Formats: sequence, C-alpha cells, structure tokens
Amino acid sequence: TVTAWLRPALLASARSSRMERVVTKVPVTRALVDRFVAGETEAEAMAATDRILGSGRYITIDHLGEDATDATRADTTVSHYLDLLAQLDSRVDRSAAAGRPREIEVSLKLSALGQFLPHDGDRIALENAQRICSAAEAAGVWVTVDAEDHTTTDSTLSIVRELHEDFPSLGTVLQAYLRRTEGDCRDLAGPGSRIRLCKGAYDEPESVAYRDKAQVDESYLRCLRILMSGKGYPMVASHDPAMVSAARRIAVENGRTSGDYEMQMLYGIRDAEQVRLTDEAVHLRVYLPYGQEWYGYFMRRLAERPANVGFFLRSLTSK
Ligand code: FDA
Repeated sequence: TVTAWLRPALLASARSSRMERVVTKVPVTRALVDRFVAGETEAEAMAATDRILGSGRYITIDHLGEDATDATRADTTVSHYLDLLAQLDSRVDRSAAAGRPREIEVSLKLSALGQFLPHDGDRIALENAQRICSAAEAAGVWVTVDAEDHTTTDSTLSIVRELHEDFPSLGTVLQAYLRRTEGDCRDLAGPGSRIRLCKGAYDEPESVAYRDKAQVDESYLRCLRILMSGKGYPMVASHDPAMVSAARRIAVENGRTSGDYEMQMLYGIRDAEQVRLTDEAVHLRVYLPYGQEWYGYFMRRLAERPANVGFFLRSLTSK
C-alpha cells in the first residue's frame, strides 16, 4: 500500500532539516498544522487550555521541541516550562482532594532538555527536568516524560527512575510497539506509578519493534492488562476505538472505577469522541502541544493518517 512506504518516508523527513525548510515555507502547511498544534505562543496555548478545561476534560501541555543541540537551547526550553507553570498556577483547583488525579499536567521530552548533548547530556537533562518538576510540584501540576525513539529508552527510563525518588507523582510514557515494553510495564506497574501507554510514533527497526499493526495492537492489549492489574495509575493514550473499548472493559474487570485510570488523546484528534467519553464520566486528558518547533510533531501526525497526507499533498500540488 501507499502508506507502507509513505510512513517511513514521512518519519525520515521528520528528522531532516532540509525537508523542514521546505515544508515550513509552504503557506498551506499552516492551516493543517493548526489542526494539531494549539498555537505558537503561550497565550494561544492558554486560550485552548481554558476551552478544554471548561469542557470537563483534563489537559497535558507540551512545549514543542526536541533534540536540543546546545545547552543554551535546553535552558530556553526550561524557561518556557517555568513561564508556562506560572500561568497554570492560577488555574489549579487547590480544593481537589489529595490523591485525586490532577486536572493539569505538563509533558516533557528529555531530548529537548539536553539528553543528547555530547558532554554530560544525561546529567544536564536530569537537572533541567528537576527544575521543571520542582516548579510543577509547587504549582500542583503533574509531570509526565514523553517517550522518543528506541535509542533513548534506556537513558530516559534511568533518568525517570532518578527523578521519581524526589517526585513520586512523575509519570512516564511506554510505547507498545517496542518488544521490550511488556517487561517495562511489569517493572513499572507498582504502587504510585503513572504510566501513559501509547502505540509509538517513530520508525523503528523490526529488531526492536513490532511493525505490523495487528502485532502492535496485541502488544498494546497485553501491556494494558499488566498496567490495569497492577497497582499504579494507567493512562491509556490512543484514538483507536478498539483500544478505547478494551481499556474500559479491562478496567472494569480489574475493579477500577473512573478515578483509577484515564484515557488520553491528542489535541485536534477525535474531538467529538473526547467530549462523548467525558460525558460518559470517563476521565479524558488532551495532550496539547504548542510552540514554534512544531515540525517533527506535525510530521509524525501526518505519518499516522494517510487521509491527512493526501490532503496535504493535494494542497501542495494545487499551489
Ligand atoms: P492508530 O494510529 O493505530 O489508529 C487506529 C484507529 O484510531 C484508526 O483506524 C482510527 O479509527 C482512529 N484514529 C486514529 N487517528 C485518527 C484521527 N486523526 N481521526 C479519526 N480517527 C483516528 N508516541 C510516542 O512515540 N511517544 C510519546 O511520548 C507519545 N505520547 C502520546 C501521548 C498521547 C496522549 C497520545 C494520544 C499519543 C501519544 N503518542 C506518543 C502517539 C502514539 O504513539 C501514536 O502514534 C498515536 O496515538 C496513533 O496511534 P493510535 O493509538 O491513536 O492508533
């Protein structure tokens, strides 16, 4: 099929600065980007956040950016998060009972915090994440660390373990397409853990990842069962109707009620379904990205959805 080659091509383009220069210059790109990204500024992100919180949904906010190439850039990312947390502070419901899910969360990519800087990248990312986690803790906001490509997983999970000692509410993302993830779910499903389970968005080799959709889905369900029967707080990140209904069923089988797990979807994807689930008393959190560095995120969203790619290519050729 077309998507068999298109997906890897788009995911490779997501890493190409040459393609980035081309794609970001096309005027029509903007309209499509706006579907997935809440804006370039903090003010736009706050307006979208207020709309989402007003509809009864929870939120996790991501300041877009990945692969910081120098320490100054990583530092700028930290400043963006600190500014964001200052804005969020007044929106946090402090009357909410302790132990209840927090309505507001931020999501971080360690690569944007310096994880792969040539000297001491791990330590720099850890210290930067600590600064953000401290500010978030003071503001009553949760933090979850995103999962990037498989070469980062060991480093990310070891930084997360270290952070977790000081910030026990810290969450982390696991990707069901990785063959290792069932084991990681077992290791991390203990009391107090928060695991966001997604399928995985990068182009990974067969040696480390399932590449066939049916196999990814089966792995997702196996991981889901481990998390739901564990002692932590599972966060089910998927737009797939099959995963959403399985999650609700498996939650009930494990005696979980709506405050014991949550569903999560990306900003702009299946919005009506997000509202419908919220109306059915499912806790639904929206992952809301904002900022100027939307290119990599946008290309991964295109790669997931052939219909979006078709729309994009038609717009390019009709210009
Ligand atoms: P999949 O893409 O397999 O789609 C299955 C079905 O879902 C489709 O057939 C359709 O029915 C429905 N669907 C999907 N997209 C739709 C759309 N646009 N409109 C209508 N229906 C649609 N990845 C990663 O590698 N690291 C990370 O840290 C994260 N973080 C993250 C957080 C959250 C909250 C979410 C929801 C996702 C992520 N991801 C991620 C992305 C994730 O790995 C994955 O790439 C996407 O969620 C797409 O996978 P789905 O599970 O949605 O199903």
